[in-house]
Amino acid sequence: MGSHWGFLIGLLGAVWMLRSGHSEQQPPETAAQRCFCQVSGYLDDCTCDVETIDKFNNYRLFPRLQKLLESDYFRYYKVNLKRPCPFWNDINQCGRRDCAVKPCQFDEVPDGIKSASYKYSEEANNLIEECEQAERLGAVDESLSEETQKAVLQWTKHDSSDNFCEADDIQSPDAEYVDLLLNPERYTGYKGPDAWKIWNVIYEENCFKPQAIKRPLNPLAAGQGKSEENTFYSWLEGLCVEKRAFYRLISGLHASINVHLSARYLLQDTWLEQKWGHNITEFQQRFDGILTKGEGPRRLKNLYFIYLIELRALSKVVPFFERPDFQLFTGNKVQDAENKMLLLEILHEIKSFPLHFDENSLFAGDKKEANKLKEEFRLHFRNISRIMDCVGCFKCRLWGKLQTQGLGTALKILFSEKLIANMPESGPSYEFHLTRQEIVSLFNAFGRISTSVKELENFRDLLQNIH
Ligand SMILES: *[C@@H]1O[C@H](CO)[C@@H](O)[C@H](O)[C@H]1NC(C)=O
Ligand SMILES: *[C@@H]1O[C@H](CO)[C@@H](O)[C@H](O)[C@H]1NC(C)=O
Repeated sequence: MGSHWGFLIGLLGAVWMLRSGHSEQQPPETAAQRCFCQVSGYLDDCTCDVETIDKFNNYRLFPRLQKLLESDYFRYYKVNLKRPCPFWNDINQCGRRDCAVKPCQFDEVPDGIKSASYKYSEEANNLIEECEQAERLGAVDESLSEETQKAVLQWTKHDSSDNFCEADDIQSPDAEYVDLLLNPERYTGYKGPDAWKIWNVIYEENCFKPQAIKRPLNPLAAGQGKSEENTFYSWLEGLCVEKRAFYRLISGLHASINVHLSARYLLQDTWLEQKWGHNITEFQQRFDGILTKGEGPRRLKNLYFIYLIELRALSKVVPFFERPDFQLFTGNKVQDAENKMLLLEILHEIKSFPLHFDENSLFAGDKKEANKLKEEFRLHFRNISRIMDCVGCFKCRLWGKLQTQGLGTALKILFSEKLIANMPESGPSYEFHLTRQEIVSLFNAFGRISTSVKELENFRDLLQNIH
């Protein structure tokens, strides 16, 4: 892989190894240090440091993003939670109370959203509809200008070839709207072998890993030999940047989900009330450097990595959202306009972030090789989005699907050639298109990662008080 990237990573990797090797001889650290001391300064694989991200996210982005995600446009997500698992017979745990997802009643969802669930503005909707109809009839409506015909056909066709996710069949009668605010991601009690199976299948069969190399297992499972860990990490370091990035994205997503579950843990459960809050022990079991044999801090670093990837995608797609005909369409004109303003404000804030990840270092190299690799990357990721249909707990399935779709959308943006070729100074490109489904998942997924980064600050404070 070109550039000085590979070199930097190698260097950071070496420093990392040295550091973690030494940590055992040092005096006992505080609980906070054991989770966070290695999670500071510069991050591997990019030129950004943790402190800059924390400040930027926690004070500038997070509050505004929360407000945006509370709006009608972003809170209603249409999803099919009843798709069967394509890989094995799933025994789902839908009986568990905290796993239940309550779908919206039909009249709860604004008409504007329902009528345009896969579209994004009235005008464009009509165009797509006409075109789709024309296509079904075997002809394209000739009253549309040639240019428009092309663009619209591009959207409907190319959309799927660019996609990193299996499109959810939201036209299916099984698909329902879910109010994300009423079904928050939090601890559900779904854990143990069933939950591990999902992550294991993802890491073992879908992350480019040869069978002979063992990934350090969940810390809660039986202890693993140090040598296996070393084999795993030297293998990972030896991978090309893209495959390593893939692993780090998955690990970052996993870490983020676990931060949420630890931050919204079911602390008290009586017939009178349920209380949710921070469970420090749970957090430590997943992220403490010693309890996890060095894994925890790596996971947290990967959380920052996925943050930067999604941040970069958002900054890149700004022109699409700036198009005058783009609306966050719910049917309420005033509200819709205000939301669009808030959205653009957030996006400009993101654009102003000085240390963006450079996606050009991925899939650089030889064109043919790069394309092959990109295709592999895409297939693996699509597969992971299908595995989400195997998650036994509906609540976890909902958030799993939403977050993989959001990450898939971010990757689609980052690697879309249409966006690269056509977006810049020449003005917005009409060849690039995102569906409402993609937009809602993109921002909600980023909202989740942003919340995790913010939660780390809370955990850091909580851990400061114990040893
Ligand atoms: C916090 O998590 C730990 C480990 O998962 C669990 O044993 C403990 O009961 C939890 N604490 C509370 C107050 O629920
Ligand atoms: C997709 O996932 C299944 C289940 O883990 C696995 O058996 C299969 O090899 C995967 N395919 C690809 C292309 O990754």
